[in-house]
Amino acid sequence: MIQRDKQFADQSSAEIEALLKPALEDAPMAVQFENTLRPRMLSEYVGQDLIKKNLGISIDAAKSRDEPLEHVLLHGPPGLGKTTLASILAQEMGTSLKVTSGPALEKQGDLASILTNMKDYEVLFIDEIHRLRPVIEEVLYTAMEDYCLDLMIGKGPSARSMRLNLPKFTLIGATTKLNMLSSPLRARFGHVFKFELYTIEDIESILHRSAKILECEITVGAARILAQSSRQTPRVANRLLRRVRDYAAHKGVTIITEQIAMETLASLGVDPIGLDRTDIDLLKVIIEKFQGGPVGLSTMAAALCEEQETIEDIYEPYLLQLGFLERTARGRIVTKHAYHHLGLPHNSSLL
Ligand SMILES: Nc1ncnc2c1ncn2[C@@H]1O[C@H](COP(=O)(O)OP(=O)(O)OP(=O)(O)O)[C@@H](O)[C@H]1O
Ligand SMILES: [Mg+2]
Repeated sequence: MIQRDKQFADQSSAEIEALLKPALEDAPMAVQFENTLRPRMLSEYVGQDLIKKNLGISIDAAKSRDEPLEHVLLHGPPGLGKTTLASILAQEMGTSLKVTSGPALEKQGDLASILTNMKDYEVLFIDEIHRLRPVIEEVLYTAMEDYCLDLMIGKGPSARSMRLNLPKFTLIGATTKLNMLSSPLRARFGHVFKFELYTIEDIESILHRSAKILECEITVGAARILAQSSRQTPRVANRLLRRVRDYAAHKGVTIITEQIAMETLASLGVDPIGLDRTDIDLLKVIIEKFQGGPVGLSTMAAALCEEQETIEDIYEPYLLQLGFLERTARGRIVTKHAYHHLGLPHNSSLL
């Protein structure tokens, strides 16, 4: 992954596409599908209306003033369309996108070589920006603010600083963990947008669009069933669509009906509101071992044999959104809605 980021760091988006093509043929099927289904224009990008509206205004203003778009920070849970929106933004600005990620930038020189090779108004996308090393973050401050790079050349008494002027670029940073971004870095973004989970209706339209691209027929009812199980996340919705499509092919049917959708979800162990085995285990562990909470994240992770990050990034956002889990200063608590969904008496926490 790091290799790939570095390799693409100096490419324009057309070049990235050309480079991706053969690479994608060998890439895992899931990655190939993800790229096929990625919207290319703002008009194809479903939902996140507030972000789209504000960005639309800023893009028009920047274009009319002949200025680069101010730096943009996109944050929110995985699979909600941050990377997709970054490439659309570059396209809408009529410029190209350079792609890298926080962990791929090891030395100041890595960032310097990317920035000095950029052109005016070009967009640099740094994924997982919360994982930038502090020395690199510092270089980024002046680059973002004054379009120049302050670098130290050499070491010890012979060390000297050097200032390089940079083109007027736009930085788009993406992160799933806004709290891990330092405040000086956060303060240098002109736009900070939080991605929300999608509405069921928006996910339904994403599914219908994806079905068209994948050339499979899906009924309105089946799309609704998949949308309800998608954790309100486009990436999950598209993954369910691929599984349902496989299941339909296995059954020898050409139309994805409600029946086919329900059978597929059942065989995947996904319940009608999108909870899978791990979500249910997570809730049950808190209920059974910790009397419904409060329980700290690290204790919960140890009891589930999962990484804390995975719990925070993948499982919690949706459980919080459903109102099944509450985060308090003393730890996580399972709510009565979760007890009802699991068919457990709420006062079982007192036993
Ligand atoms: N608004 C949208 N409209 C249509 N499809 C979308 C939208 N957002 C995301 N998708 C689909 O979901 C997939 C995942 O989106 P993307 O890779 O942009 O998410 P991400 O937020 O960057 O995730 P991560 O945090 O894991 O990097 C894309 O391939 C795309 O097909
Ligand atoms: Mg991404």
